[in-house]
Amino acid sequence: MSHFTYQDGVLHAERVALPDIAKAFGTPTYVYSKAQLLANFDGYAKPCAGRDALVCYAMKANSNLAILDLLAKQGAGFDIVSGGELQRVIAAGGDPGKVIFSGVGKTVAEIELALEKGILCFNVESIPELHRINEVAGRLAKRAPVSLRVNPNVDPKTHPYIATGLKASKFGVAFSDALDTYRQAAALAHLDVVGIDCHIGSQLLDDAPLLEALDKLIELIDTLAGEGIHIHHLDVGGGLGIDYGAGDGEPVPIAHYVERVFARVDAWRAEKYDGKPIKVVFEPGRSIVGNTGVLLMSVEFIKTGEEKNFCVIDAAMNDMARPALYQAWMDVKPVTPRDAGAVKYDLVGPVCESGDWLARDRDLAVEPGDLLAMMAAGAYGFTMASNYNTRGRPAEVLVDGDQVHLIRRRETADELFALETIVK
Ligand code: LLP
Repeated sequence: MSHFTYQDGVLHAERVALPDIAKAFGTPTYVYSKAQLLANFDGYAKPCAGRDALVCYAMKANSNLAILDLLAKQGAGFDIVSGGELQRVIAAGGDPGKVIFSGVGKTVAEIELALEKGILCFNVESIPELHRINEVAGRLAKRAPVSLRVNPNVDPKTHPYIATGLKASKFGVAFSDALDTYRQAAALAHLDVVGIDCHIGSQLLDDAPLLEALDKLIELIDTLAGEGIHIHHLDVGGGLGIDYGAGDGEPVPIAHYVERVFARVDAWRAEKYDGKPIKVVFEPGRSIVGNTGVLLMSVEFIKTGEEKNFCVIDAAMNDMARPALYQAWMDVKPVTPRDAGAVKYDLVGPVCESGDWLARDRDLAVEPGDLLAMMAAGAYGFTMASNYNTRGRPAEVLVDGDQVHLIRRRETADELFALETIVK
């Protein structure tokens, strides 16, 4: 069930009409549904209940403090990729002891911060990184818990920009090098080898590639056990997709996927380890926040061209980069649909780039001043927004039943150049 529905001909977020939000906070504005967020998280959390499992929300998808706070209160851990994200977790009241740190380029300062805050694990992506973490841990007289991100060479069948588990990817350690890399990690004085992880890509509608990658990790854990390297947690990464309304199929329901992971893990542990459990970690981003948000925007002008008609809106590629960056198809709905007069439009923003479009060839009946909602914009929306063209980033609003909370106000022009200095 979606928490964005038409009620009396007007699109609502839970029980709040979107035009009321536009009136109060202007456009473009990201609008999130708390109920949808919690329902998605439950999809992971419910099958995990009573098990040694942790859902580390990949906060790069949406890192607003209000979202992080809600998830932390549900018991979520966090998958971070920078020191800044760790500081956000702490600012939102999250537990650093439930944080895993991914990414190929961790700096010395970031490693120091993570060790000082006592994170759960570093997901290490290369041998030089192992050495760097070992050195920093030694200097701080700490031990660093590490996991290796193994590249299982499974094709996730997704957009090349968001496929990460193939041999040609910059991410992770090649499957064929994993054993040797683990041996090297185990020999380093200040590291504790605790885990194994992978992340093969994003927006996967089918869970078959995810389960195939899981099988490869399981195989490796058995090999490592034979060498006396015992793995305490198995991190299956993120990647489960959402329905963008593009007609390319429905994603596997979250809980089904999680149950299938547990079924495989349990069968394996029963067969090889007398049923001794292993901690399972998930790193979902998009499937938790994607359909939790819409981008509310207004029609500025209708521009009729020789070959194309343009609907010029007040949101742009700087507010939502996915179409420009990945040619992503995002659904756009009129907030108050009109009965007649649909015309095919390209929806374009005011930014001075031909790549500044949010949707193409859409049949819409619209007039200047109308409100539109880009659906399923909650993941990789605001977090990828920029200030290009000196545009303040959108406001963010959280709806809870009939309550509306401004969780990030719109940026002002003054704020955009406040850090700059004129040279006298
Ligand atoms: N874990 C790691 C190590 C990751 O790199 C990512 C996403 C995730 C977990 C979460 O993946 P998810 O569950 O969201 O698929 N900006 C792109 C997506 C980039 C994904 C980057 N890594 C987009 O808008 O489609």
